[in-house]
Amino acid sequence: MTGKPALPKDPVLCQCSGTTQSYIAALVKQGLDVDAISQRSGALTGCGGCEWDIAELVKALSTAKNSA
Ligand code: FES
Repeated sequence: MTGKPALPKDPVLCQCSGTTQSYIAALVKQGLDVDAISQRSGALTGCGGCEWDIAELVKALSTAKNSA
């Protein structure tokens, strides 16, 4: 026991749909953009509160992919 709460390995980014970070990362790998990811996963179809987090993740992963 370290006394610190463990961070979830695969955080849920969209609480409304239960979409996890790893699922979004997998969809980005397939070349999907934010709109397509939303349609496929159901993310961003509820309250919209996850919009910033998902947009940032997609941007970061797309940048990493394009610069590789
Ligand atoms: S948390 Fe993603 S739509 Fe509500």
